[in-house]
Amino acid sequence: MIEQIDTLLAQARNELAAAADEQQLEAARVKYLGKNGSLSGLRKGMGSVPAADRPKMGKLVTDAIASFEVLLEEARKSIARRELEKDLRREKLDVTLPGRTRRRGHRHPVSQAMDDIVEIFARLGFHVADGPEIEWDLYNFEKLGIPADHPARDMQDTFYLDMATQPLPPPGSPPTKGAQQQLLLRTHTSPVQARTMLAQPPPVRIIAPGKVYRVDSDITHTPMFHQVECLHVEKGLSMAHLRGTLEAFAKAFFGPTVKTRLRPSYFPFTEPSAEVDISHPLCGGKGCKICKQSGWLEVLGSGMVNPDVLAGVGYDPEQITGYAFGVGIDRLAMLRHGIDDLRALFENDVRFLEQL
Ligand code: PHE
Repeated sequence: MIEQIDTLLAQARNELAAAADEQQLEAARVKYLGKNGSLSGLRKGMGSVPAADRPKMGKLVTDAIASFEVLLEEARKSIARRELEKDLRREKLDVTLPGRTRRRGHRHPVSQAMDDIVEIFARLGFHVADGPEIEWDLYNFEKLGIPADHPARDMQDTFYLDMATQPLPPPGSPPTKGAQQQLLLRTHTSPVQARTMLAQPPPVRIIAPGKVYRVDSDITHTPMFHQVECLHVEKGLSMAHLRGTLEAFAKAFFGPTVKTRLRPSYFPFTEPSAEVDISHPLCGGKGCKICKQSGWLEVLGSGMVNPDVLAGVGYDPEQITGYAFGVGIDRLAMLRHGIDDLRALFENDVRFLEQL
């Protein structure tokens, strides 16, 4: 019987070592330790062993079974290790490869220009004011000295909305005439002038950046574009303050060598009015194709706030004066980056935007 045990164990050792997977291990376990297993079966044969030898033989069988269990556990571990190694080889994990970098975006060039302008004016002591893009005729035109039949309406091709009887939100008195109730997409940021002055007493020192809309589309016009409005109303302001502020802004935005000039112009809400040119930053004012050889580029409209506008919001034009201007941000962003087609800014082509 001792011999039989040794043979069985040797045999089991070989079989377990040769087992390729869990299934074969299980088959071996059943073969040796199962109900009719050859090792477990030895227990049944104990009856035929002489009583004196029984304790000794019993211990031998128990030990043999324990040894088998140890062998089985080892075989199980070695199979698991082989499986893992196989998995790792299949994954071809190369820890020396460089990592995948995350692509980083940046602000849109128009947003960059807008943020820069806000920062420049914040340093000059201006606050940011806001107004809706869907605006009332009252603020977009009427309060700025442009009544329904005024020819200045033709300067701005307007998107009108078909919602004529909405109640008018504050600030401002409820409209009485039908035309004042018309809703539209604001054609400029100037309505924020009227809204701000109606909502607070002077002094006012604000800038209002945002989107504006006009029925217009070609290489230098898109139906939606961006403006920043500037309004300063206080006792004792003159054209000199307007010039000084414009000069400070242009130099802060384009650099210390840029020059500005004012040309007479017309806006119903400013008097006198001026168109502001800057020396072309790209050719240094020498003249090139973009500035039509003149060396100058028109960038904004400006003027002294019309006394009628001041009176219309309840201010006393005898006591205070103000200046205002509105600048096209998209134009500034184009100039800064040397872009020649405005539409490129809004086509959302990442290959274009990535370069700016
Ligand atoms: N709102 C005018 C425009 O869009 C610009 C402007 C603003 C002119 C303020 C004078 C004062 O054309």
